[in-house]
Amino acid sequence: DFDLTAHNTLALRARSRFGVMIDQPTLLPALFDHAAAQNLPVRVLGGGSNVVLAPEYDGITALLTLPGRKIIDQTIQGTLIEAAAGETWHDFVLWTVDQGLGGLENLALIPGTVGAAPVQNIGAYGAELADIFHSLSAYDRATGATLTFGKDECAFGYRDSIFKRHPNRYVVLAVRFALTATWTPNLGFAGLSDLAGSKEISPRTVMDRVIELRTSKLPDWRETPNAGSFFQNPIVTTTEAGPVLDDFPSAPCYPQPDGRAKLSAGWLIEKSGLKGYRLGPAGISERHALVLVNHGGAQQADIAALAGHIKQTVQTRFGIALHEEPIFL
Ligand code: EPU
Repeated sequence: DFDLTAHNTLALRARSRFGVMIDQPTLLPALFDHAAAQNLPVRVLGGGSNVVLAPEYDGITALLTLPGRKIIDQTIQGTLIEAAAGETWHDFVLWTVDQGLGGLENLALIPGTVGAAPVQNIGAYGAELADIFHSLSAYDRATGATLTFGKDECAFGYRDSIFKRHPNRYVVLAVRFALTATWTPNLGFAGLSDLAGSKEISPRTVMDRVIELRTSKLPDWRETPNAGSFFQNPIVTTTEAGPVLDDFPSAPCYPQPDGRAKLSAGWLIEKSGLKGYRLGPAGISERHALVLVNHGGAQQADIAALAGHIKQTVQTRFGIALHEEPIFL
């Protein structure tokens, strides 16, 4: 019996019949063989920052803690770096900035592990993992082979990848990033643009600003357990966006390359009057309407009930369907 309450950032009460730490890739074949022989399902968790866990899991939960990060190659064109899946994402970002390397600074302070990062193609402040991604190694549970995935094979999309669409097939072991030698700061996002004129600009100054912005906007999961953005920003046709923009011409609305529009889920939830709303032990953050929080003792069903209420309210008010971002396990 294995308690997972401390292994998910929503701090949901959750247990697994068995638990195991995987700190070297060679343990994986033995784990899956053993599980098959015992007829037990296996699920793999990283930092538990993008999952909504059920109270009981009748199987083996494997916590991936593979350590390591290194510079693989440095040429005049750029630098190739690698981190193992169990590294904490933000520590890895800090390490790159300490090495004087630019490219990951806009993605500072995102909770979770390196191995989980490509699964949902983490993104923030105008950047996403796919921008600097080179390749990854993954264990294929179907064949027992270790495979290399290039960028195209990962099929990255907005908060999406092949690994998210096949959740039980691959275990990400290590991720490689290609950073260009000439660093171009990515300051397009609101809150960063004023840095453009600064003489002192460096990956570190951009990272520090991102940290400042995130800290001021998003609740810290260590104080108020949460899983970051709970819904994806909905990408809708102009017809679907019509009613929102008729009522609120200045609503946040970002045109997409395919002609559709990305609306802001946080804005829709706030305008539906739900910011700070509570349902039992679950609630919507007072600080950011896109973040669901555990006020104490919540279980998966409490979060599901609140998410259902939010979806229904936004659907009724604006005719827009929201989709959960974390994975229910
Ligand atoms: N807004 C509101 N009310 C709120 C929150 C936001 O009206 O309570 C409005 C803001 O005023 C702004 C718009 O919504 O006009 C967008 O808000 P914000 O800049 O906070 O970004 P977001 O779209 O809500 C996305 C990512 C975040 C990421 C930020 C910053 C998704 C689902 N979320 O949030 O990612 O940090 O941009 O780039 O794409 C995460 O995935 O867990 C996450 C935190």
